[in-house]
Amino acid sequence: MSKIGAPLALLAEVTHRCPLRCPYCSNPVELERASAELDTAAWQRVLTEAKALGVLQVHFSGGEPLARRDLVALVAHANCIGLYSNLITSGVLLDKARLDALVAAGLEHVQLSFQDAEPGSADRIAGLADAALVREAGLPLTMNAVVHRQNLERLGDMIELALAIGAQRLEVAHVQYYGWALANRRALLPTFAQLEAATATVEASRQRLAGVLTIDYVVPDYYARRPKACMGGWARRFLNISPAGKVLPCHAAESLPGFDFPSVHEMSLEEAWYRSEAFNRYRGTEWMPEPCHSCERREIDWGGCRCQAFALTGDAGRTDPACALSPDRDLLTAARADAEAPPSDFIYRQIGGMPARAAVE
Ligand code: SF4
Ligand code: FES
Repeated sequence: MSKIGAPLALLAEVTHRCPLRCPYCSNPVELERASAELDTAAWQRVLTEAKALGVLQVHFSGGEPLARRDLVALVAHANCIGLYSNLITSGVLLDKARLDALVAAGLEHVQLSFQDAEPGSADRIAGLADAALVREAGLPLTMNAVVHRQNLERLGDMIELALAIGAQRLEVAHVQYYGWALANRRALLPTFAQLEAATATVEASRQRLAGVLTIDYVVPDYYARRPKACMGGWARRFLNISPAGKVLPCHAAESLPGFDFPSVHEMSLEEAWYRSEAFNRYRGTEWMPEPCHSCERREIDWGGCRCQAFALTGDAGRTDPACALSPDRDLLTAARADAEAPPSDFIYRQIGGMPARAAVE
């Protein structure tokens, strides 16, 4: 096995609470209650342990991290111990006073997600206002646009929106199909024609906006021939802490059965990272089945995404079906064929009750 290095970044999921109900939410289907969340002192201890472990950056995320009243205290602590802090937010709970307090506490970057760019839509107007606040505060801004079948035709508008608000970077992220998004896959997976048009839009925009706006875009797994190195490989570069303090190699890992993920209540981050069974299970290449085990890309993509392999095949230890060499590739072929049929309705998450169906439009 190649040598295990320190993680680069900590994803601090400070809460699962969120005022939005995105049908592509990748949080676990079972959300943590507010009463189970780590308190301020526990999060500060976790940040200190992360710094000692070698982590350089902390990404405050959720849910909606601004739902935590102590977010300023957490950012201040990160700043005090020398961690670069980034806030990943929908902006729904952002206002000038809150942002000023976060900047004073040492916040260094904001990643603002928006759902759509329809002219006149509430989301577009709110997104513009939130982005203006961030720019006025002098912070670098990345826009994150989650794209899917229902909004991909407006990708060009999203690029113009990112330009208009002065973002330095736009991440165009296709929905990842695990968690809640998997239940909505038939409503969300783009058709092949949509995907080709979107790729052409990105390529033309990249040329036109070179030096002004950086656009990150990768082909979604369901249409790729080879998988991406999810999280840079299992437990190789990132560490994720759930709202209740579970230490995870990625934000979706709690969906995997048969794991005993460490808790910050019982184990140091150092112990969890280097010595826990859960972190070591899919590290390196020894665990890999064929065709990965003898594949020349095994230390490039690390066999793809364990959570996607589980979501599609029921076994997290199989080759990710996003790889065309996977023996389970037909599962993706069938999903792509489904995408050519009319979309199904969205299934919305309802906090505290059973999910309800709602029409797409
Ligand atoms: Fe990656 Fe495995 Fe596919 Fe090779 S066979 S490209 S290692 S997923
Ligand atoms: Fe968990 Fe890819 S999201 S390994």
